[in-house]
Amino acid sequence: MSHEIESTLHEERLFQPSQTFSEQARIPDMATLQELYQKAEDDYEGFWADLARKELTWHKPFQTTLNSNHAPHYRWFEEGELNISYNCLDRHLANNGDKTAIIFEDEKGNNRHISYKALHRDVCRFANALKEQGIEKGDRVILYMPMCPQAVITMQACARIGAIHSVVFGGFSAQSLKDRIEDTGAKAVVTADGCYRGGKIIELKATCDKALEIGGNSVQTVIVLKRSGHDISMTQTRDIWWHDALKNVADECIPTWVNSEHPLFLLYTSGSTGKPKGIQHSSAGYLLGALMSTKWVFDIREDDIFWCTADVGWITGHSYVAYGPLAAGATIVMYEGAPTTPNGDRFWEMCERHKVTIFYTAPTAIRTLMKLGDELPNKHDLSSIRLLGTVGEPINPEAWMWYRSVIGKEQCPIVDTWWQTETGAIMMAPIPGAVATKPGSCTLALPGIDADILDEKGNSITAPNKGGYLAIKKPWPSMLRTVWGDDQRYIDTYWSYFDGKYYLAGDSARRDEDGYFWIMGRIDDVLNVSGHRLGTMEIESALVAHPRVAEAAVIGKPDETTGEAIFAFVVLRGERPEGGIDEALTQELRKWVAKQIGPIAKPAEIRYADNLPKTRSGKIMRRLLRTIASDEEITQDVSTLENEAILLQLRGKS
Ligand code: WT7
Repeated sequence: MSHEIESTLHEERLFQPSQTFSEQARIPDMATLQELYQKAEDDYEGFWADLARKELTWHKPFQTTLNSNHAPHYRWFEEGELNISYNCLDRHLANNGDKTAIIFEDEKGNNRHISYKALHRDVCRFANALKEQGIEKGDRVILYMPMCPQAVITMQACARIGAIHSVVFGGFSAQSLKDRIEDTGAKAVVTADGCYRGGKIIELKATCDKALEIGGNSVQTVIVLKRSGHDISMTQTRDIWWHDALKNVADECIPTWVNSEHPLFLLYTSGSTGKPKGIQHSSAGYLLGALMSTKWVFDIREDDIFWCTADVGWITGHSYVAYGPLAAGATIVMYEGAPTTPNGDRFWEMCERHKVTIFYTAPTAIRTLMKLGDELPNKHDLSSIRLLGTVGEPINPEAWMWYRSVIGKEQCPIVDTWWQTETGAIMMAPIPGAVATKPGSCTLALPGIDADILDEKGNSITAPNKGGYLAIKKPWPSMLRTVWGDDQRYIDTYWSYFDGKYYLAGDSARRDEDGYFWIMGRIDDVLNVSGHRLGTMEIESALVAHPRVAEAAVIGKPDETTGEAIFAFVVLRGERPEGGIDEALTQELRKWVAKQIGPIAKPAEIRYADNLPKTRSGKIMRRLLRTIASDEEITQDVSTLENEAILLQLRGKS
């Protein structure tokens, strides 16, 4: 009993896909989806092999679909050779060369359309420039760039010549950049002078200089894109302007054919302990996962305008900006600035301007924009939108319902997509034309993905609503291949828990009576109150369901009697109470949670703040909150905090 994670969230609402949506969808009903499931179950390898042959363009065909001889090091499509940039660009040229690949808008509102033909040419030219700078197949290239077309061009150019890219999000510090450069042993860095965010200049080049001052000795070349146009310093022998690097290069670049397993990129992700892990992805398997999920989950069609708001510094920006939609030949939107510049309706204004049909963002953005009120989205014509998506953390039912009614006008399916940097592509999500949705559930695993909920011993938990460990029981094409430079960590982190048999995702989850998956939080976020294991997410959802609460983060504070006591940090809609104290409201919220979930989940303490501490990717910094709640000294890195002043509020000292 004590190892079960108890579920407290009960959601009854069910939304069927509308007939108009289903009629035109790639997978129009449950029967069609069931056929895919069945095929994957009857012949797992055959299922993926057929897709790989049909959906990717190969230079040399593969013989072996899956080689498991060195598990947990799996190889997919082993003998095959292909080029990822060829698959994203060249193959669309004959029929769709003039089609817009990228609609780009900067923070000031300038925008520009780039056709597949133009993008292909730009990628070829930059690939040639990289070669001229001595970059060869297998070399690592770090990107430290704004969210602009040149970021995608650089990623695609690396792919074209078989160089391995590693994108470092532009919000990371010089120290983090240096660490990543050193871990990859990168030969080159591609950056920009700077970019605008929230009207302020982000000093990319200056930060890069600092990183290379304190280390990163493997770097021979820094290529600098002129974006902000402000003064920066260039180091003669090392730095070269992007436009100078492009002088005298050819418009054509024959793709370098690489093996299926050739690393396409490394992307660093932090866990709760230790230094960030360089997640290594493959070429063929990765692209197949990104492409199939784009087609299945986003139901992408010829005429869609797809806007995934994630920065290319995150996996979402890899799979659903730089690779998946381009491999599908779609039109994507890229935006360089902040979501609330100049106003809180920037996203909605852009959806209207560019006639966005599919909009994909994070729950944290949805909650932030929800807090600003309905008038902002209501000012705009959002009728072009036909599908909405979320990713990154559990979405609380309140935010889900707001997204559905205020943005989707009750017409659009919402795809809540569960996946990870490590999985490379979406693993669980509703297939929008076929699967009915429930607010807060990522519903079912995609065809060819064997997700399950296991107990400590690795046995499947079949009883409904019993929480356990989320695991993936069969290898899948877009899975990570290793942790760069630390293979043991790959084995220890993901495979050792279930004796090398299953992939441990690190999340807790449950399945309801209909077999729908509900993510309960990270395993290390589980609370233990008087012997009851409670997921933080469910208590947070209950708090956010209160009309006065905009956001909530719940953590466990060590407690002599109960093991852990529930400590809630709350952001209200509207003003924070004077001095952070409102006894009446605190009592009301405690009662509210008790009523929604049960007395066991009643927060022992509630603290009000204007904001919650978040990582750059929008995840709540729970470890920091635990430190704060226990009144311990902060030893964590708080340099990525958007607003350090809130630390005082969180500590209850202002
Ligand atoms: C972790 C992975 C995958 C792109 C962005 C995050 C959480 C992700 C959901 C979702 C509930 C989610 C999980 C997962 N997560 N999507 N739809 N519902 N939780 O990538 O930084 O690698 O984080 O994000 O805890 O393990 P990441």
